[in-house]
Amino acid sequence: MAGDASDRWWEGAVLYQVYPRSFADSNGDGIGDLRGILEHLDHLAGADRSLGVDGVWLSPIYPSPQHDFGYDISDYTGVAAEFGTLDELDALIAGCHERGLRFLMDLVPCHTSIDHPWFVDARSSRDAEHRDWYVWADPPPDGSPPSNWESVFGGSAWEWDAASGQYYLHTFYPEQPNLNWRNPAVATAMGDVMRFWFERGVDGFRVDAIFAAVHDARLRDNPPVRRAHMIPGFGGDAGQDALWSMARPEVHDVIRHIRAVANEFPGRVLVGEAYLPVEELAGYLGHGRDDEFHLAFDFELLHSPWEHQHLTLAVERSEALHPPAVWPTYAIGNHDQARPASRWGAARERAAAFLLLTLRGVAVLYAGDEIGMENADPAILPDPPFDRAGRDGYRTPMQWTPTAVAGFTTGTPWLPVVDAQARNVLDQSADPDSLLSLYRRLIAARRASPALARGTHRSFFGVGTDVMAWMREAPGDRVLCLLNVGDQPSRCALPTARLGADGGEVVVATSARAGHVTLAEMTLDALEGVAIRIG
Ligand code: NOJ
Repeated sequence: MAGDASDRWWEGAVLYQVYPRSFADSNGDGIGDLRGILEHLDHLAGADRSLGVDGVWLSPIYPSPQHDFGYDISDYTGVAAEFGTLDELDALIAGCHERGLRFLMDLVPCHTSIDHPWFVDARSSRDAEHRDWYVWADPPPDGSPPSNWESVFGGSAWEWDAASGQYYLHTFYPEQPNLNWRNPAVATAMGDVMRFWFERGVDGFRVDAIFAAVHDARLRDNPPVRRAHMIPGFGGDAGQDALWSMARPEVHDVIRHIRAVANEFPGRVLVGEAYLPVEELAGYLGHGRDDEFHLAFDFELLHSPWEHQHLTLAVERSEALHPPAVWPTYAIGNHDQARPASRWGAARERAAAFLLLTLRGVAVLYAGDEIGMENADPAILPDPPFDRAGRDGYRTPMQWTPTAVAGFTTGTPWLPVVDAQARNVLDQSADPDSLLSLYRRLIAARRASPALARGTHRSFFGVGTDVMAWMREAPGDRVLCLLNVGDQPSRCALPTARLGADGGEVVVATSARAGHVTLAEMTLDALEGVAIRIG
């Protein structure tokens, strides 16, 4: 369903992240699959009780030994048998498009699996055809690793390969050797992977861990960290500043290459993933020149403590560094991070939904967060864990029904179900006051309002204790958003003269508030969010 080059459908879009292993299992093996996703598309779009999102992004479904659950790919153009077949993937793409849903896949360009034929060949001998597709280095005379670089998951980023007598680089697990993007053959091969999927109708890619694409050619040691990073990444913080091992300037060349391939296919989108402060991240968007990513996740909001000044700073930094034609991309959860209902607390989940869906930006919603799923209690998780980095608790089965297996499978789920009796799609669908119903109302309001969907953003400060206030504005549509992030009621002092309005109509609220409101008399309840259309 891709359009022409001017089709910027993704501006202000709402995307939904599916973690395929955990979404819906159609064959009873306890592992989610493509047919399961197809059978549950009503939840996303095209039916009465859909969320109404614009697109879906699937975490990797490619063949993989699953050391990092699909982020270790052994065949970039296939489908893992446990998820289904290429035909089933085609059917899923078609099913999405019939409902007007865009379909995004995960591109993992910086590393393969150790089982990928390129790496199998590369490690077979120093003269192998693919040797230079990866990053190899000799040890110093004492045999230690070539540099002090740490892997994101902890320990050295170098793995000794005894057979060929060199180390290879792995930013993540040792089973994920880094590709060498200084070798043009790698760029060509990855471009062909993208074309393969674009030609099948894929509307875009979420691009994995792009900051790891290039390392310092001289392998200089990283210095100690001088100041805590605003973005902690995930795990393995060795007190090291990844100055020489990550986010090197050459990463921009890699992004430009990937973007040039995407530009061969009008209407497609690239969403970069990089755990970086927004001032570095914004550079990956090409400063609006349209030659790097269309979008890139800004994780500062996700990492922000739930405190007025921190949340405000996250939004203001993002707004300051994304000029009007460039769109921030916010997520409040994903398969690598603690669930928002656990991280910020269940009492705040409605306010968090309001924030995600009324700020200027692309909103990415992680499956399960719309029903307030919480992290699994570590006591119920398998030991040893499936994921050595400790992320199993954020990846438990989607809770569809109030049953022991949550309507996820007819077999034994690969990870335990957390609390399907308390939180599930079926019950929340029928309850107008549920979190799921709020998500639907917020997304519907956003679709119906040019200001909320694609309008500009302007903040107002000092409006009230713990109150965030911002205006979204598009031609003919002005919506004032007010959110009390505190746990006490808060009286607002709104600049009515500057707003040019005394009152307005509630468009959507986290509470039962509806109808006309008078701005001079606004008191927000604890954690209440209200969007008001003003004249
Ligand atoms: C980011 C992915 O989201 C994460 O799950 C994975 O472990 C790393 N990149 C490595 O691919």
